[in-house]
Amino acid sequence: MAATTSIHGMWSSRLAFILAATGSAVGLGNIWRFPYTAGEYGGGAFVLVYLICVAAIGIPIMMAEIMLGRRGRQSPINTMLALARQEGRTEAWQLLGWLGIVCGFLILSFYSVIAGWTMAYVVRAAAGVFHGADAAVIAAAFDGFVADPERLLAWHTIFMVMVVLVVARGVASGLERAVRFLMPALFVLLVALVGYAMTTDHFAAGLSFLFRPDFSKLSGEGILSAMGQAFFSLSLGMGAIMIYGSYLNSQASIARNTVIIAGLDTLVALLAGLAIFPIVFAQGLAPEQGTGLVFKVLPIAFGQMPGGQLFGTVFFLLLVFAAWTSAISLLEPMVAWLVENLSLGRVRASVLAGMTVWLLGVACLLSLNVWSEITVFGLGFLALFDFLTANILLPLGGLLIAVFAGWVLSRAASVDEFAMGEGLGYRLWRLLIRFVAPIAVAIVFLHAIQVF
Ligand code: PFF
Repeated sequence: MAATTSIHGMWSSRLAFILAATGSAVGLGNIWRFPYTAGEYGGGAFVLVYLICVAAIGIPIMMAEIMLGRRGRQSPINTMLALARQEGRTEAWQLLGWLGIVCGFLILSFYSVIAGWTMAYVVRAAAGVFHGADAAVIAAAFDGFVADPERLLAWHTIFMVMVVLVVARGVASGLERAVRFLMPALFVLLVALVGYAMTTDHFAAGLSFLFRPDFSKLSGEGILSAMGQAFFSLSLGMGAIMIYGSYLNSQASIARNTVIIAGLDTLVALLAGLAIFPIVFAQGLAPEQGTGLVFKVLPIAFGQMPGGQLFGTVFFLLLVFAAWTSAISLLEPMVAWLVENLSLGRVRASVLAGMTVWLLGVACLLSLNVWSEITVFGLGFLALFDFLTANILLPLGGLLIAVFAGWVLSRAASVDEFAMGEGLGYRLWRLLIRFVAPIAVAIVFLHAIQVF
């Protein structure tokens, strides 16, 4: 019989879990990463592949992660170890948990740097520096900002301290209240921004860029990136959702919660795209602006719209909070493991993990300026960590989760944990997790390395 509670605490209700998991999923991945990768890989066809990946790979894997987490009730490493033992399989399955920890370190290190940009932009918006500025001035200001390591370091440090503070106190307290208010607020602001984008006369161009697929623009790398974006955006493949599942009570419906979380996450990404691309075209800009896209485009709108100073400030502030609630879930798996295995208290474990991530983050921010000459496979540290985690490590983690949940874990165990009977819903999940998800990930990998 599986444990019914976790030593790290439990969510107070089903709603608390949905809020926390949505808080993890909705973040910079939706508003910073989705538009810039969609822009990079040509729009429509990329978006279509992304949506297919969310539905056919993301949703079944999210269900599997929550299910495994709830059954194990420990950090991903110890959950995988315990479940593998229960099934009489090799203890090597715990490596899946280790992969997740490595991934968490790498993602959070660059995530914190970008969250730092967002914080700096709260101050800029509040100071009114975007007022009346044109696209060239705003782009130059962004480029000047990322060329300054000291400013990046200060913001990165402040953000990591914020993350460590929450994780040290325990994720269940505080997070719940914050997300309940912030997520709806972010949503309303995004809808308002889409409303503004509609007034630019280029809304149709934005719409067609996002939703009219042109497959001639889609390379193997584009397909890989669309799949990677689905994993990144849904927080899948590294144990973040698994550990949140371990704090979920045994009665909640995993399938229903998953559909809600994935649906909200996708909606936010699409709204961000609808807000940004019409402005891109109205300004005569190219969609391939790279990581600076959102920071170069949205300030133009804030500088022109009535009330833009206030609106821009609140928008970037909400984005900081969205990044914060995601970053917390990136740190939590390793902190839980440190508490379980090294008998460290939560505070020490959080500080230790946070300092390690901070150090890696320094390498990321330096790669944008003083270390710009140092590249691996042609990429600086920040771009390398971003590509490697989203496009390779997360899908690999997801593939292993699918294999474990579909082939290693007994059918009886998954039936018991989902508690939705063995009807159509369960059979569909099992088909997707055993065949569709692992084969699709494998094909995309092979395609990307041009074996085909
Ligand atoms: N899903 C987050 C976002 O879209 O910003 C990022 C993220 C969080 C990725 C947690 C992975 C993860 F485990």
